[in-house]
Amino acid sequence: MSSQEKIKELIDKREEAKLGGGKKRIEAQHAKGKMTARERIDMLLDEGSFEEFDMFVTHRCTHFGMDNQLVLSDGVVTGHGTIDGRVVYVFAQDFTVFGGALSETFALKICKVMDQAMKVGAPVIGINDSGGARIQEGVNSLAGYAEIFERNILASGVIPQISAIFGPCAGGAVYSPALTDAIIMSEENSYMFVTGPKVAKTVTGEDITVENLGGPMVHGRKSGVAHFIARDEEEGLLLIRKLLSYLPSNNLEEAPMIESGDPADRTSDFLNDVIPENSNQPYDIKDVIHDIVDGHEFFEMHRNYAQNIVVGFARLGGISVGIVANQPSHMAGVLDIDASKKAARFVRLCDCFNVPILTLVDVPGFLPGSAQEHGGIITNGAKLLYAYGEATVPKVTVTLRKSYGGAHDVMSCKQLRGDINYAWPTAEIAVMGAAGAIEILEGRAMLEIKDLDERKTFFLEKEKEYREKFANPYEAARFGYIDDVIEPRNTRFRIIRAFQTLSTKKDTNPPKKHGNIPL
Ligand code: HXC
Repeated sequence: MSSQEKIKELIDKREEAKLGGGKKRIEAQHAKGKMTARERIDMLLDEGSFEEFDMFVTHRCTHFGMDNQLVLSDGVVTGHGTIDGRVVYVFAQDFTVFGGALSETFALKICKVMDQAMKVGAPVIGINDSGGARIQEGVNSLAGYAEIFERNILASGVIPQISAIFGPCAGGAVYSPALTDAIIMSEENSYMFVTGPKVAKTVTGEDITVENLGGPMVHGRKSGVAHFIARDEEEGLLLIRKLLSYLPSNNLEEAPMIESGDPADRTSDFLNDVIPENSNQPYDIKDVIHDIVDGHEFFEMHRNYAQNIVVGFARLGGISVGIVANQPSHMAGVLDIDASKKAARFVRLCDCFNVPILTLVDVPGFLPGSAQEHGGIITNGAKLLYAYGEATVPKVTVTLRKSYGGAHDVMSCKQLRGDINYAWPTAEIAVMGAAGAIEILEGRAMLEIKDLDERKTFFLEKEKEYREKFANPYEAARFGYIDDVIEPRNTRFRIIRAFQTLSTKKDTNPPKKHGNIPL
């Protein structure tokens, strides 16, 4: 063969690999509104930056006539490229080849990019669209999954790992995405479950559709498995690019500074008026967040799950910051099991990737009742407490209104290594709300007052007395638990200065193998 013929052979092989499972299956993929693996990668990465690995890999299976069915790339496209000029590693499962099902070599290809990403210190993005373990490969396929899981675990907290689900993701295959930092599901075509509807029907008798069992709405709202639900694949890929802009490439770096041009000393009269006169009245904490952050831009995670707490990223003076905020307009911003889990995971995400945390507090307490107690609010609430107490990144807390009881401690209080704790003049920092406190403190005295009107007057007087004494920030400030009481309109400026001051903060945890977070 002449060298020209050899070059032509290479080009032909590349063309063959790019066809994956063939034109008909590509058309079927498009007909479902899905992109192919390479189309997805091209859309995700900076134009022309993709360098593909292992295009010529084929599987080694000989069962079921598989030795006659060799497809170049073997159902997964892997390699590296850049996002906003920063290196990332990527793998995309190709549904047109054996339904994207995972073989031994398929797994080895994924492991290769994960291993190199760890050496280089760059994020890994996985795009999932697969029928799971390749049935013809038997246990080799299970071993392949486990190789990936182990790498997911070792890479956790070292490099960001992000999973997109743009098709089926079922059986044990769900556990690789579950081990990563964020899951993005597309509204169309995606689902995740450990056992599908047929197994559910056989084992429990339950009749349920794929969507109701593990569709994006279920995982975005109920289970919290998915952090983002994208309208379509294109939006999902853009969300990944955006998310990475708030994170460093690895745990030894810091997220990129991006100046927005929004003045650090921009004040806001809106904030002076945002807290309603009646402290039981709701307001939308997202209005406050948007008002404070650079360019009014807030990148929310887990938007539809546990809406009583809000988490997401923004920039303050160009610094990437993770924000955790109670949401008074949803269940009064109470902490419950789901909210605690959601916020705890977010706090740990920020901490492992050196992203400072801003906490905005307006919390009436923990949600009472048997559902919460029996569901384990003790263990789950402790997750958030643990996450805050363990976090060594700069932590700034602003108490806007209520901060009662155990929830006060949990929400990044001073003694959980809160670095700078501010309060607005409207803050109410106390063991509990006034009404509840008087019921307990004056219950016996009230029972002795037989006249109901008199009893009510007595209650209201005592409640007022308590409110004046405790429902303010000054009692906490008197003990130094609050560093300063600030005028709301200056919040942006004060927070930016706090984070700038804390940018050289050094803090560590005692040496240990690892802690035992109450999982
Ligand atoms: C081999 C598979 C496959 C698999 C699909 N295909 N899944 N080949 N192993 N697991 C092939 C089909 O034979 C078909 O080949 C092509 O992929 C497309 O599949 P269709 O069924 O035609 O597509 P669709 O109707 O869209 O249905 C997709 C699907 C379905 C829902 C994913 O294929 C399915 O239920 N597959 C089996 C899923 C499964 O049970 N996987 C094993 C789970 S156990 P042709 O040649 O016709 O195009 C598991 C354990 C992991 O994953 C454990 C990790 C620890």
